[in-house]
Amino acid sequence: MWLQLISVLSLATSSLAASTEEWKGRSVYQVFTDRFARTDGSTTAPCNTTEGLYCGGTWRGIINHLDYIEGMGFDAIMISPIVQNIEGRVSYGEAYHGYWPQDIYTLNDHFGSHQDLLDLGNALHERGMWLMIDTVINNMAYITNGSNPATSINYSIFTPFNNEDYFHPYCEITNYENYPLAQRCWTGDDIVPLPDLKTESSDVQSILEKWIQGIISTYSVDGLRIDAAKHVTPSFLPNFYKAAGLFMTGEVMEASAEIICNYQSNWIPSVPNYPVYYAMLSAFTEGNITALADELALMSSLCPDTTALASFSENHDVGRIASMNPDMSLAKNILAFTILADGVPMIYQGQEQHFTGSGTPDNRKALWLSNYDTNAELYQLASILNKIRKQAMRIDPGYLDFKAYPIYSGSSELVIRKGSERRQIISVLSSNGENGGAYDLTLPISYEPGSVVTEVINCVNYTVDDKGQLQVPMNKGLPRILFPADQMGGSGLCNIGNWTNYGKAKKGNGSSAAPDTRISLSALCFGLFISVFGSAFALIA
Ligand SMILES: *[C@@H]1O[C@H](CO)[C@@H](O)[C@H](O)[C@H]1NC(C)=O
Ligand SMILES: *[C@@H]1O[C@H](CO)[C@@H](O)[C@H](O)[C@H]1NC(C)=O
Ligand SMILES: *[C@@H]1O[C@H](CO)[C@@H](O)[C@H](O)[C@H]1NC(C)=O
Ligand SMILES: *[C@@H]1O[C@H](CO)[C@@H](O)[C@H](O)[C@H]1NC(C)=O
Ligand SMILES: *[C@@H]1O[C@H](CO)[C@@H](O)[C@H](O)[C@H]1NC(C)=O
Ligand SMILES: *[C@@H]1O[C@H](CO)[C@@H](O)[C@H](O)[C@H]1NC(C)=O
Ligand SMILES: *[C@@H]1O[C@H](CO)[C@@H](O)[C@H](O)[C@H]1NC(C)=O
Repeated sequence: MWLQLISVLSLATSSLAASTEEWKGRSVYQVFTDRFARTDGSTTAPCNTTEGLYCGGTWRGIINHLDYIEGMGFDAIMISPIVQNIEGRVSYGEAYHGYWPQDIYTLNDHFGSHQDLLDLGNALHERGMWLMIDTVINNMAYITNGSNPATSINYSIFTPFNNEDYFHPYCEITNYENYPLAQRCWTGDDIVPLPDLKTESSDVQSILEKWIQGIISTYSVDGLRIDAAKHVTPSFLPNFYKAAGLFMTGEVMEASAEIICNYQSNWIPSVPNYPVYYAMLSAFTEGNITALADELALMSSLCPDTTALASFSENHDVGRIASMNPDMSLAKNILAFTILADGVPMIYQGQEQHFTGSGTPDNRKALWLSNYDTNAELYQLASILNKIRKQAMRIDPGYLDFKAYPIYSGSSELVIRKGSERRQIISVLSSNGENGGAYDLTLPISYEPGSVVTEVINCVNYTVDDKGQLQVPMNKGLPRILFPADQMGGSGLCNIGNWTNYGKAKKGNGSSAAPDTRISLSALCFGLFISVFGSAFALIA
């Protein structure tokens, strides 16, 4: 235990900004700032998703709704880009999303003030939550409204990149699969072209590096998403990562495991796991379970570390699951897979409310239209899933680095194990959907005969038979999440007290309430970790 304690202490004191290793244990809720909550909490003023105008969401609004996010068990949020964007309206709207930067030294005042953003960071850190900021380093933006981008940009409107020398000359990306072209030419279109920064130039690099260091220290930022990382000169990514000194996940929208794993090997420690995302869609919305099992194996074999990737099933760029298939059971399987798979879960606002929207901009409906319903089925499920993940992390130091793998794959089931022996989470996933019938699934399982497992969504126990097999009753295509029953202590699930209560009881009370003393030892270490880490944050705040 003391060895563990010492390593925890040195970890907490040596790095204030949160590293990739530290982020692995987090669970992130993606906030789309303009569409999450207004400062005054109003919900009736119009917000027409199709028109693409600012709808009034703010950083202050986020502060006012942190209970909603924390109530699902998320301990980090990612917010939209924070810098000033171009003003003005085109046929598809305004810069409400934050991806049209004009002045990187000024905040986007649609979202709030310097003080509001400081307060958001502080409010998060007081709850032990972390702040991730979406970041645009590939480009600036300009409204040409149809005129030729090659000749109609007035570069002096940009701060600080007020000269065309900072940019690649205009060219159109005619093939997004041609990486050198996609990196050298401009994203956007001829209505709002996105002038492409010459990120291979040392001037541009040094400006962006100093800028991000300022943002991180001013606003106590814990992590970054790098927008359009696919379009950034790849050799800049490790330099930017080093300058920032914290976790970043870089958007490379790409289905190929080879390319994604190459990015992780060579350029950036984390990228959103698009290959598994596409395979997950095949599995649950098209019934091709094999595709997912195959992709998981491929990613494990090619990527240096699948546990550092970002695990997602929705974001502001892709269609909502409910638009591909409105089935609630499928939505539950997808959420369970996303949170319990390898990597840092990132759940996009509205997924917990089963929002629809088949693509941009329809996938950006204001969250307030849900009335922040904490009884929503997927909201409740997210809370359970985050709790069991936290429980596995607490009692199994190997959980986060354990590479999840399928232990069984049927015609409509995929069963995935993650975690060390006798501590593992077994996710039994189904593609049958709500109309699926009742049947028993017999699983060859790596538990000893006679051991009891708890299905944590419904809080029922099952016993492993004398052949080491487990019969799991399936019904209505619902997922089953299994965990050793004698390891549930402190999970806060199934009427078992949560870790807070558990830790307190242990401190003031020598009698053993714990089924397993190893749990209480790690509980103490975990408590210490929290207090040391908490004070580390107090120092930088
Ligand atoms: C939103 O705006 C579009 C385009 O202006 C319009 O066609 C649509 O009817 C509007 N929707 C609502 C609900 O007002
Ligand atoms: C762009 O053009 C449309 C008409 O095509 C016009 O309504 C709009 O105001 C223009 N926007 C800007 C910023 O010039
Ligand atoms: C370019 O933008 C600058 C700054 O907004 C402005 O002062 C200047 O007049 C513009 N130049 C042209 C040719 O429009
Ligand atoms: C399922 O996906 C795999 C890819 O892993 C593919 O080879 C196979 O053809 C797909 N099956 C069906 C029925 O589409
Ligand atoms: C499941 O088994 C554990 C350990 O045997 C027990 O403490 C718990 O109460 C049981 N839960 C249910 C729902 O039966
Ligand atoms: C644990 O439960 C208590 C009440 O039973 C609650 O006040 C507290 O917020 C819970 N803590 C966590 C981390 O869920
Ligand atoms: C310790 O906790 C147990 C179980 O909660 C309780 O029965 C016992 O009275 C407590 N002992 C003391 C000294 O508080």
